[in-house]
Amino acid sequence: MTAQNNAPLPDGLEISGYRIVKKIASGGFSIVYLAYDEDGNAVAIKEYLPSALALREPGELAPTISPENLPTFRIGLKCFFEEGRALARIAHPNVVSVLNFFRANETVYMVMAYESGRSLQEHILRRRDKGEKPLVSEQFIRKMFGQVMHGVREVHTNKLLHLDLKPANIYLRVDGTPILLDFGAARQTLKSDLPKLYPMYTPGFAAPELYVKNAVLGPWTDIYSIGASMFACMVGAPPQPADQRNTNDKMDTHFAKLEAIYTPELIKVIRWSLMIDPLARPQSVFALQKALREEAAARPADAVLDKVSRKVTSKVRGLFGGFGRRSAGHAATTIQDGNTI
Ligand SMILES: Nc1ncnc2c1ncn2[C@@H]1O[C@H](COP(=O)(O)OP(=O)(O)O)[C@@H](O)[C@H]1O
Ligand SMILES: [Mg+2]
Repeated sequence: MTAQNNAPLPDGLEISGYRIVKKIASGGFSIVYLAYDEDGNAVAIKEYLPSALALREPGELAPTISPENLPTFRIGLKCFFEEGRALARIAHPNVVSVLNFFRANETVYMVMAYESGRSLQEHILRRRDKGEKPLVSEQFIRKMFGQVMHGVREVHTNKLLHLDLKPANIYLRVDGTPILLDFGAARQTLKSDLPKLYPMYTPGFAAPELYVKNAVLGPWTDIYSIGASMFACMVGAPPQPADQRNTNDKMDTHFAKLEAIYTPELIKVIRWSLMIDPLARPQSVFALQKALREEAAARPADAVLDKVSRKVTSKVRGLFGGFGRRSAGHAATTIQDGNTI
């Protein structure tokens, strides 16, 4: 994806009743700002600004878009707007809350409740850098992803798919509850004739059907990404990309190493979510939640399991470290790059 090279809006700018405080993030498709509304509430404002199509020079407000890129920019803008409108109907504690939408500077802005915290990706990387073993506990995975699944279920109930679930798009509030961010990919369901807005799926987290033109997407597509995100929490790197798995699937070896650290029941559910064949996966988030609950019920309390897993961790440190080292050339670079895990 093209790197973000657009100038952000200036700090202190008043725009449609909001005052921009500062840029908090930027990617290839948008810039996110911290701002305040008229009552002094903190909001996060996401500005649609795909850098492959629109260029904004420092000191300017509206971007310059070449006539050749204008039709694609407009289709993307409409999709961004419609996606936000659909999201605005969802009020759920585990889904980012969209408060408003406005047009300005020849583009569109989505206003969200500002959440203070950090992404699951940052959380994992910090723990990895501190050398925490296990990287995250089984209890953390079960509890946090249990809440993520509530959010995803709500999204599916509203006839939307997320399509870009990954640790970078799961945000942890300060109290540890997760919220789903960044429904950017969902609007790409119209993607077939949008070559410049297209590839935006993240290798490792994207289901195999996303690599296939006109494949049938459904809840199982997001379920693959949930499984991939759980895997990434355990390992500190994404799973093998789905297109590579089609020809030379190495996931069995990785799962085998995790068996010493996490319960076979949890691993079984993740394996199920990560099946290449969409029909072989849980078909609904409800089915996935049910499997996790049933598998948990079949075992003693998680607290005991965590104690057990801590003990075995030291024994398998060599194995686990080996995976980390092996991945150093490929995956470790990926996880240091803020956008990939
Ligand atoms: N509602 C929000 N509250 C606080 N920070 C947010 C919010 N939405 C986005 N961010 C910040 O902006 C980053 C990028 O947001 P995201 O929606 O994932 O956009 P992108 O399309 O650039 O990936 C997030 O990782 C987070 O740090
Ligand atoms: Mg994102």
